[in-house]
Amino acid sequence: MCGIVGYIGKQKASSIMLEGLKRLEYRGYDSAGLAVLQNDGVTVIKKIGRVDNLSAHAAKQKLSGHVGISHTRWATHGGVTDANAHPHVSSDGKIVLVHNGVIENYVAIKKFLLTKGYDFESETDTEVLCNLIAYHYAKEPENGEGTRLLDSVRKTLSHVEGTYGIAVVCTERPDEMVAARKGSPLILGVGDHEHIIASDVSAIISRTQNVVYLKDGELVHIAKGGFTISTLDLTDVSPVIDTVTWSVDDAELGDHDHYMLKEIFEQPAALENAMRGRFSADGSTANFGGLNLTAADFRQIDRFVFTSCGTGWHACLVAEHLIERYARIPVEVDYASEFRYRNAPLDRDALFFVISQSGETIDTLAALREAKRKGYKCMAICNVVGSTIARESDGGIYQHAGPEIGVASTKAFTSQLMISAMFALYVARMRDMSFADGVDYVNALKQVPAKVTRILQQADAIADIARRYAKYNDFLFLGRLSLFPIALEGALKLKEISYIHAEGYPAAEMKHGPIALISEECPSVFLVPKGELFNKVVSSMQEIKARKGRIIAIILEGCELPEGLADDVITIPDCHDAALPILATVPVQLLSYHIAVARGCDVDKPRNLAKSVTVE
Ligand code: M6R
Repeated sequence: MCGIVGYIGKQKASSIMLEGLKRLEYRGYDSAGLAVLQNDGVTVIKKIGRVDNLSAHAAKQKLSGHVGISHTRWATHGGVTDANAHPHVSSDGKIVLVHNGVIENYVAIKKFLLTKGYDFESETDTEVLCNLIAYHYAKEPENGEGTRLLDSVRKTLSHVEGTYGIAVVCTERPDEMVAARKGSPLILGVGDHEHIIASDVSAIISRTQNVVYLKDGELVHIAKGGFTISTLDLTDVSPVIDTVTWSVDDAELGDHDHYMLKEIFEQPAALENAMRGRFSADGSTANFGGLNLTAADFRQIDRFVFTSCGTGWHACLVAEHLIERYARIPVEVDYASEFRYRNAPLDRDALFFVISQSGETIDTLAALREAKRKGYKCMAICNVVGSTIARESDGGIYQHAGPEIGVASTKAFTSQLMISAMFALYVARMRDMSFADGVDYVNALKQVPAKVTRILQQADAIADIARRYAKYNDFLFLGRLSLFPIALEGALKLKEISYIHAEGYPAAEMKHGPIALISEECPSVFLVPKGELFNKVVSSMQEIKARKGRIIAIILEGCELPEGLADDVITIPDCHDAALPILATVPVQLLSYHIAVARGCDVDKPRNLAKSVTVE
């Protein structure tokens, strides 16, 4: 939530920040602002609306300074107004701040600052933080070491409860910047005679691939062309500079109309990347070097606990199905936000997993920390390398799906399904799965990218179907077993990007309540399995048809539905059961995407949402 870009170097700060903000806009897009230090003062522009609006206003001003901070906002405290947008300037005009996170004790701090004569123009917790820095800065003596601003920020943060990623500049110190984080991601890009502070890598990769991932409780002080990192308790930190493995082109839209569509089409490559180098030489199982556990360790595990949020939670449900089916080990799935507070009793030999594309979702991070606090080993399945969850887990599996910019998760989800399928195989082969079944399973997974490509070749036909259904305001998505989570995912995708009310249900549950919704005005999307449940699902479809409900059926090639039962049919290639959830996902993604486009929705930036939810 919220994006931060700060620049200090030799170039025009405003241009670099605006480019960075544009790339970070998926983090929050209700307002945007920037501040540039120049002419012994600061120029601040902040506007409600998108970054393009800010750029238009910035173009009217002379912004020549080389140091600045900027922000895209996803409102928490205070409505969407110009005044509440960041950056905020302290009432003495000296301190300028952008902030991502929530200051929980801001009311008490504000009361204190009011007694000291500080004024407030906004309703935000951020302005309170800004004035508290100004208060400490005013009290802090010049120390000859050039650390007055750093020391004031450090003192301020020691009085603050809550979460923050911040970047701070001071009109009296035009060649300095201080940034700090606790609970909100922040990185430092180290370029050629320039430094960039940002909420994530996408904002900096056009300038540099050298990056320092700041940890919670760390402050970075950039001055005199260099930087130092220290902690809140004054310990110096030796910086580790990592190299980002993806390039600026990976985060470009290219010929696609939307990032979501681009990312749907990137799925064959993302799935290949999830598998690359992870099958054993004999082709009968998977290998995961990053789990840091031996086969003997795995034999001690009698339960897995999977937690996540949103789409990742649907991936957990698929993991549960596959692990229980193939490895016969019990799996518990919990929403991360619930796990954190419900003090769940866990088996002594449980292994804890979190799934997070961004690796920054605060609820998932909190669940991970809670499980670690209780002494459990915690693994993470993450896409973003170096993310907080990836770093704080005891081991894990990187997805290597490449940057996902569209707010609606697509390629990250199917990549999580692929990793879940491979992990189920990995533990199944340590238990009862035979060598021959393992080889079949591996071969089936290797065919998935090509099969996804075949589904993508039907994109125009799926778009035609979508346009015919775009007028409806209620949808049901129905599936069974491993296709039930895909029904949930289909409903979530449609809700997120087209604002249509949609629900996912196990197909057989429909008759226990949701069937009351069925009419000509409420279509159902059926995810039809093969095998023993095929006829059962067909019966559920008959029940809908008998009530004049329209049906879109997603079926496997070779399966035949009774004549006229479905109004529209999308076929997916026949496949191994472990691959079925992946293949069934692609048509529901395309349906949702094209329905949203037909309704004129802003697919990549749906209302009220942000890509990475870093506040509770
Ligand atoms: O980055 P994460 O995987 O931790 O994000 C979790 C959810 O916020 C995310 O999946 C969300 O539900 C997406 N918008 C779904 O499309």
